[in-house]
Amino acid sequence: MLIRTAKEDIKYVMFTREQIAARVRELGRELSEKFQGETPLMICVLRGAVFFFTDLCREMDCQMDMDFISASSYFHGTKSSGVVHLLKDSGIDMEGRHIVLVEDIIDSGLTLDYLVKLFATRRPSSITTVTMLDKIVNKPDRFHVDYYGFKIPDEFVVGYGLDYADYYRNLPYIGVIREECYQ
Ligand code: IMP
Ligand code: MG
Repeated sequence: MLIRTAKEDIKYVMFTREQIAARVRELGRELSEKFQGETPLMICVLRGAVFFFTDLCREMDCQMDMDFISASSYFHGTKSSGVVHLLKDSGIDMEGRHIVLVEDIIDSGLTLDYLVKLFATRRPSSITTVTMLDKIVNKPDRFHVDYYGFKIPDEFVVGYGLDYADYYRNLPYIGVIREECYQ
């Protein structure tokens, strides 16, 4: 049986690990300035944001604490199911806290919209949203994110945490897979 490696399935690389690292450093600097003297609660939306989150937090030099939640709107496909499921919630008291929600990518905007509305009910001081990638989609009233790494065209991307059917998350760069890799 022929087993292809994850890298062999990549049609092209959209952002190299060096480009990602440079952009994450800039975002880290901006967020450090914003939260100077504060202790934000950094929340990672698992699983896609995991590498972005850990890299971003290490590029910030303010005090912080971290938590991990899990949300899903995709079920082994490349289009959102339209329904967000909170698979794992945060157990930390958010009242009076500066919350920073860290996502991998915004497509329809449904996931972040859902999470921000949910966390707003817990009376935080503020909620800041950060995403590594922001897809340019033709939807004028879509969720507006506070910080993004890169804007990208409406293509399905994998790597640096992003998956297709749970594969390719471990690629160190962001890329597009070849058509024949979609079952
Ligand atoms: P939204 O709710 O439509 O904004 O979708 C957000 C979620 O869908 C993200 O957190 C990702 O997990 C997933 N997603 C959206 N676009 C892509 C993509 O191009 N590759 C991999 N996952 C994606
Ligand atoms: Mg996600």
